[in-house]
Amino acid sequence: MKYAFLLALLLGGISASAATTAACATCHAAQARTHGATGMANALEDVRTCDILKSHPKLVFQEGSYHYEITRDGNASQYQVSDGKQTLRVPIGWAFGLGSAGQTYVFQINGRYFESRVSYYKALNGLDLTVGAQSTVPSNLEEAAGHALDKEAARACFNCHATHASVDRKLDLSAMVPGVQCERCHGSAQAHLAGFRNGQPHVGAMRQLSKMSTDETSEFCGQCHRTWSQVATNGPHGINNIRFQPYRLTNSKCYDVDDARIRCTACHDPHREVVAEPASYDAKCQACHAAVKAGAKKCPVSASNCAGCHMPRLELLGSHNLFTDHQIRIVKKNEPYPN
Ligand code: HEC
Ligand code: HEC
Ligand code: HEC
Ligand code: HEC
Ligand code: HEC
Ligand code: HEC
Ligand code: HEC
Repeated sequence: MKYAFLLALLLGGISASAATTAACATCHAAQARTHGATGMANALEDVRTCDILKSHPKLVFQEGSYHYEITRDGNASQYQVSDGKQTLRVPIGWAFGLGSAGQTYVFQINGRYFESRVSYYKALNGLDLTVGAQSTVPSNLEEAAGHALDKEAARACFNCHATHASVDRKLDLSAMVPGVQCERCHGSAQAHLAGFRNGQPHVGAMRQLSKMSTDETSEFCGQCHRTWSQVATNGPHGINNIRFQPYRLTNSKCYDVDDARIRCTACHDPHREVVAEPASYDAKCQACHAAVKAGAKKCPVSASNCAGCHMPRLELLGSHNLFTDHQIRIVKKNEPYPN
């Protein structure tokens, strides 16, 4: 560890902008090795290296009289919409979402940021309307291209999908690194290293995320996955909140603010890809449900694949994807979506 520290200093690889995965990787190889493949690390992609855009040199979509095309030219991608008379053509700035569900594009027109009206969906291997766009009717070509983002919406968009995108609560992309990288969650590498004494960091130099309580973890992950109070106050209600896990989980009977066995990080390692096999979560459930003396009940139906029945995967309209309901419960046939 000490040698790695000296090496990192010698290489001078700890400047603020470069201090992302590479700076941490020198000393924390285990996390750095697996984190790069996660959806979070790739939540925003540079258009030049975006695999979906590279492997789909031409994507087309028709909505009423509007015709959409996304075309590839070298390392750049163009987004184009035409109404038969006029055509609006802009270079795509950024690709949002690794695409496990879909990918939405952000571009600028006269300095304003826009979210594309059409998105790529993995299940379709093609384009369709962006989630939320179904309820709007464009009245001109610019609206057909996309949804104009005000300054705060644009900042929030990058701040949840990238690292170092927000300075003094303002959007500033000069030092932005795409994706949710180490420093976005852990804070500054410089402060961490400045706090070193004899090759060891002293307490307080970096927030100890593993010491967070269950509620603190929900709030922490909720800064991007939305917190319970945000959804309780502002909605959305109904199936549209299925993606907001902190809200859904908090509303389930299993949730206990003081019990670490129901923290987000009890089931998910933020440095690894999400485990896509429901049965592999059994031990997480059994940590409470196998021990009857802990107060939790046993299942009369099955001793395995708990999440498969009690965390149903439901379709969010227009997303062409199933999301996992974190409101753990006994699912009744034809029940309305519980809120
Ligand atoms: C020069 C080596 C070095 C670099 C570079 C480095 N760390 Fe560390 N880090 C350490 C050492 C040494 C410790 C203390 C021993 C341990 O827990 O492994 C530590 C501890 C930590 C801890 C545990 C803190 C706690 O007490 O819970 C975290 C989290 C962490 N580092 C994250 C990072 C991140 C993120 C980066 C990049 C932004 C980074 N480190 C860069 C050496 C380094
Ligand atoms: C800075 C914002 C941010 C924070 C903080 C954050 N997430 Fe995420 N997370 C995202 C985004 C954005 C995505 C969507 C990535 C994609 O697929 O493009 C995501 C996706 C995920 C996924 C699905 C990954 C996949 O491979 O499909 C899991 C699981 C997850 N987050 C868990 C967590 C947990 C647990 C925490 C708290 C320890 C957390 N996240 C904190 C932004 C964040
Ligand atoms: C408050 C934080 C936040 C904001 C603001 C935000 N996102 Fe996200 N976004 C997330 C999280 C978290 C996920 C992962 C949701 C999940 O899988 O449960 C996500 C998922 C996505 C996905 C789907 C990725 C996949 O898994 O296929 C796309 C596309 C996306 N966001 C685009 C955008 C765009 C474009 C904006 C701005 C107009 C935006 N987001 C604003 C947090 C945010
Ligand atoms: C989405 C947020 C997020 C990102 C991105 C992230 N971490 Fe972490 N990290 C956490 C959380 C939360 C914990 C505490 C985990 C726990 O309690 O099990 C943690 C724990 C750690 C620890 C301490 C391990 C321990 O058991 O004490 C190290 C070291 C670490 N992370 C390094 C990194 C490095 C290096 C990167 C980039 C490659 C990174 N992290 C990216 C959220 C994140
Ligand atoms: C008791 C275990 C458990 C806990 C606690 C838990 N999850 Fe999950 N989570 C799962 C399971 C199971 C899946 C589905 C995995 C699969 O089959 O793809 C999942 C999937 C996800 C996904 C991928 C998108 C989706 O809808 O499938 C995200 C994002 C996520 N969880 C975030 C969180 C966050 C944030 C927290 C804390 C508020 C959390 N999870 C707490 C079990 C858990
Ligand atoms: C932190 C401990 C804990 C964990 C982890 C946990 N549960 Fe629970 N669960 C509870 C408690 C406590 C109750 C409430 C028991 C009661 O109603 O008497 C509960 C209730 C339930 C119920 C009944 C809910 C209802 O609608 O009546 C189901 C079903 C359930 N849990 C399934 C699961 C599954 C599946 C998992 C893993 C994905 C899980 N639990 C993880 C503690 C836990
Ligand atoms: C095939 C679907 C299925 C699977 C798999 C399954 N359950 Fe259940 N579970 C049910 C149903 C249905 C009920 C309601 C039974 C009733 O009320 O008669 C239930 C009830 C429960 C209850 C409430 C018991 C009570 O006395 O109130 C708990 C807790 C529970 N399950 C936990 C689990 C755990 C933990 C696992 C994994 C070890 C699991 N379940 C696997 C379908 C399933």
